[in-house]
Amino acid sequence: MKIIWTFTLLMIPGVVSSMSVTGYSGGGVNITCGYKKRYRDNKKYFCKGQWSQCRDRIKTNKKDKWVQKDRFSLYDDTSSSVFTVTIRDLREEDSGMYQCAVDKTIEIDSYTEVRLRVLTGQQIRTVRGYSGGNVIINFKYEIQEENPVIDVCKTADQCFTVINTNRRAEWKHDRRFSVYNDRSAGLLLLFIRDLNENDSGEYKIIVKVSEDYSFFSEFNLDIKKEDCCVKSISLSASAGGSVNISCKYPQSHIRDVKFLCWRSGADLCAKETSVKESRRWRDEGKIRVEYDREQQLLTGSISHVTEEDSEYWCGVQSDQGHKIFITRVLINVTGSLNAADSAVGYPMDVRIV
Ligand SMILES: *[C@@H]1O[C@H](CO)[C@@H](O)[C@H](O)[C@H]1NC(C)=O
Ligand SMILES: *[C@@H]1O[C@H](CO)[C@@H](O)[C@H](O)[C@H]1NC(C)=O
Ligand SMILES: *[C@@H]1O[C@H](CO)[C@@H](O)[C@H](O)[C@H]1NC(C)=O
Ligand SMILES: *[C@@H]1O[C@H](CO)[C@@H](O)[C@H](O)[C@H]1NC(C)=O
Repeated sequence: MKIIWTFTLLMIPGVVSSMSVTGYSGGGVNITCGYKKRYRDNKKYFCKGQWSQCRDRIKTNKKDKWVQKDRFSLYDDTSSSVFTVTIRDLREEDSGMYQCAVDKTIEIDSYTEVRLRVLTGQQIRTVRGYSGGNVIINFKYEIQEENPVIDVCKTADQCFTVINTNRRAEWKHDRRFSVYNDRSAGLLLLFIRDLNENDSGEYKIIVKVSEDYSFFSEFNLDIKKEDCCVKSISLSASAGGSVNISCKYPQSHIRDVKFLCWRSGADLCAKETSVKESRRWRDEGKIRVEYDREQQLLTGSISHVTEEDSEYWCGVQSDQGHKIFITRVLINVTGSLNAADSAVGYPMDVRIV
């Protein structure tokens, strides 16, 4: 061993470096390895094992374009003298030692050691949504890095970046997309609102841990224009009274948990009452819900209505915890004393000015 070590140092001075990379089963990792400019024209490869007995996973002579082999892709960026290796659809047995290597003809090849650890992950797969509705997608991860950069991309050119600089978790918004990174819970929530059919497609959530590596999760968003379901319902109720809400559900969600959420400001689901089994009442004081499986109908009853009860959403929660908001319920609360006050308040202020 001592002989090999000395030999290595002599032949590839200062080149041997190493990095540790974490990924999640079902997801992927992106690893970037540097090399000396003079090796731009050499073949690059990525192999599994110790450098002395490494088995190739991908090897290529191609420059400045992606090359793919099974779950591995390699891009040799000759202008920056780095190459990127992407591994998709990770499995736990992929854990272990890898090498990023430059193939040299007469010298010994140079290596960057990569220790890959694949943790059990929850693959998001396909999330169903409805036009006019919203979705909140859960992404569970364990990385405790201080300030990971999080990208959400639909195809490579439609990305938005969320940089979490605060210790406190908070929503970050970009157009119709918002991300909430709850580091202490190891949970990333992706909220997409006002869905339309054009939002269907492949998405990626990329967590950039360092300059050298990122891990990602790919999923498919499938936005349906279901003819069964109403996008929006308008009701009216008098303050202090009660109101009945009824929402029809698509057949495909027959087994999912149904919920009725109360919206407060930006929080679409400030209060939630959910029901799973057919014909089972859930009573949470102010809100009662029942689900009729045969009719695929959720019936909710809200008592002691105030003007704060102006918006509710009917939706479903999938077994992976994704929330799909299907029908918006607007309640016009009339006869409220507070509403009357604020209605006259504004013109009076104007008159004073
Ligand atoms: C991986 O890194 C390359 C080079 O930085 C980048 O072009 C590519 O979009 C990345 N892919 C993912 C899935 O992060
Ligand atoms: C979806 O995209 C098509 C083609 O670009 C466009 O004509 C249509 O208006 C879009 N629909 C919505 C709801 O944005
Ligand atoms: C709501 O439904 C219940 C039970 O079907 C009914 O007794 C009640 O009168 C309804 N309330 C309103 C305000 O329509
Ligand atoms: C709410 O109901 C009142 C009384 O029926 C009506 O005058 C008002 O226009 C309604 N407001 C909205 C926003 O629908």
